Amino acid sequence: MSEAIIKAFSDTFGTKPSFLVTAPGRINLIGEHTDYNGFPVLPISIPYSITAAGRPRRDATVRIANLNRLYTSHSFEIAYDIPRLQEGHWANYVKAAAHSLTHIYGDLKGMDILFHGTIPVSAGLSSSSALVIASALLILTANGLSIEPIDLAELMAEGERYVGTQGGGMDQAICLLGRKDHAVRIDFFPLRFSYVPFPAGYSVVVAHSLVRAAKTENALFLYNRRPAECRLATAIINAVYQLDPPINRLGNLPGKPQFLSVLREPAAFVLETFKRESYTLTDIAGITGETGDEIIDRYLMTRDGIPMPVPPEGFFIRQRAHHIFSEALRVDRSCNALNDNDIDSFGELMNESHESCDSLYGISTPELNLLVMIMRKNGASGARLTGAGFGGCAVALVRDGLIDRLIDRIRADYYGDYIQKRSPGLSETLADTGALFTVKPSDGASVRYLP
Ligand code: GLA
Repeated sequence: MSEAIIKAFSDTFGTKPSFLVTAPGRINLIGEHTDYNGFPVLPISIPYSITAAGRPRRDATVRIANLNRLYTSHSFEIAYDIPRLQEGHWANYVKAAAHSLTHIYGDLKGMDILFHGTIPVSAGLSSSSALVIASALLILTANGLSIEPIDLAELMAEGERYVGTQGGGMDQAICLLGRKDHAVRIDFFPLRFSYVPFPAGYSVVVAHSLVRAAKTENALFLYNRRPAECRLATAIINAVYQLDPPINRLGNLPGKPQFLSVLREPAAFVLETFKRESYTLTDIAGITGETGDEIIDRYLMTRDGIPMPVPPEGFFIRQRAHHIFSEALRVDRSCNALNDNDIDSFGELMNESHESCDSLYGISTPELNLLVMIMRKNGASGARLTGAGFGGCAVALVRDGLIDRLIDRIRADYYGDYIQKRSPGLSETLADTGALFTVKPSDGASVRYLP
């Protein structure tokens, strides 16, 4: 593939590239939506990636092209303020990297870049963060600069907010820190990581539900509402327990001596703290002492200063907090299980995580639930949705000897029976997404100089 990318670069720009960058996609094994709350995650890097050939220029122009013609060529100037294109445009992710690096380094040289991606898009496999990380490594390399992976991960987690999602830092971190045969436990604020062995003789089967999970398009508001609900949960906890100093994210709570048991008994804590099934703005104002407008300003603003719509059914704050605290404990237990090579326990934790993502965090879909069920019935040790949710992929941990049978069943029962017969509304096909595959953990991003 590298040869094709190098050739396409030369054909497009009329000169040879000087280096190649590879940035992988990821699967999160467990720890969903915990990252922006300051709790850990446990993802792996996968051998599907964004690869790009680059060559520095003398001026500040960045010209980008893609082997896939659907992604039209574009050029922009590196400057302190780089204007964004319309939402969802692929160039925005390259701009996000350039934008945040300029804010650190000042003037930067531009470059020519030819991209090629093999990560299915809108599948919850982090193709967008891989594009941001690839772009950052390209721009750094073109300018003779380098940053420690952990620092670059932190910088790009912030940098990617340029496109509008209020994500945590998992995707950028695993893209840079992934390691073959290992999952990576990543903790946040500050970013830290440790390697956890991935079970020998097992793989992850990935299946796209064919429901698009485009975080900067249809799922943007749905996604951003979850961090907002967690901010509201934090505000209520601060008010109910008169915390001084207040906590600024849910992950800070177990650090307070009187809340040590929160992770062990999340159900009791959330019932005690959040008395209502769902909360209106008035309910929240009655607890925190803020006005409705103050609540909107403090917790419900998008990056562009537009207030998020208040859902008519209210905010499910108790359920969201319950998921986050219980999921945090599951990540801890998962690391122990994998360290002990206790696959049954780990599989069970994956299953529990899916149930919690579905019933408490509200990020699953009927399609993902069905896929997960099919996986469990046909040999998976554990199965769950992965990534932001609202569509995208389900993943199963499977013993290598059982993979073929599982894939056959997914083809027959999901893409055959369900999709063809019962869900004609889903316009995408498996061939469109390319997402029914098997992986083992691979290495993180890398740069290779060309002769
Ligand atoms: C997206 C975000 C991540 C994380 C996951 C959910 O992928 O980019 O930071 O919040 O959703 O776990």
